[in-house]
Amino acid sequence: MAGRNPYITPADAEPPKNKYKVTFLPMNTTFEVDPAKLPYGRTGEPGSILDVALAAGIPLDHACGGVCACSTCHVIVRKGLESCNEPTEDELDQLEEARGLTTESRLGCQCVPNGTCDLEVEIPPWNRNAVQEGPGH
Ligand code: FES
Repeated sequence: MAGRNPYITPADAEPPKNKYKVTFLPMNTTFEVDPAKLPYGRTGEPGSILDVALAAGIPLDHACGGVCACSTCHVIVRKGLESCNEPTEDELDQLEEARGLTTESRLGCQCVPNGTCDLEVEIPPWNRNAVQEGPGH
């Protein structure tokens, strides 16, 4: 499923104008975002960290399909948070449910960088898609 949740305030995001890079941790995969190619898919806000992660082949969970109705796309923006849109009340409400919440936590599907700097984004272990997990998970 993809699209937007009609029951929430849409994320107020400024799309990037320049190319920028996102490094996903701990896999240490760097992906260059090209504004001309956004959105990469139909899951999450256009140009969101979830949209970029899926384009980069990063196994970030997104149980609700990227419409701000779960917290499985929780990511920790280690660098570059200042270039991202402000979280909406709806995002903050969902984030409260997220395991391992930090002051740098965002919902990947709602967090849209504006391209003014590169990002480092950590995917918490429990939000990595099971397909990529090792034995016992
Ligand atoms: S995928 Fe459900 S809130 Fe982001």
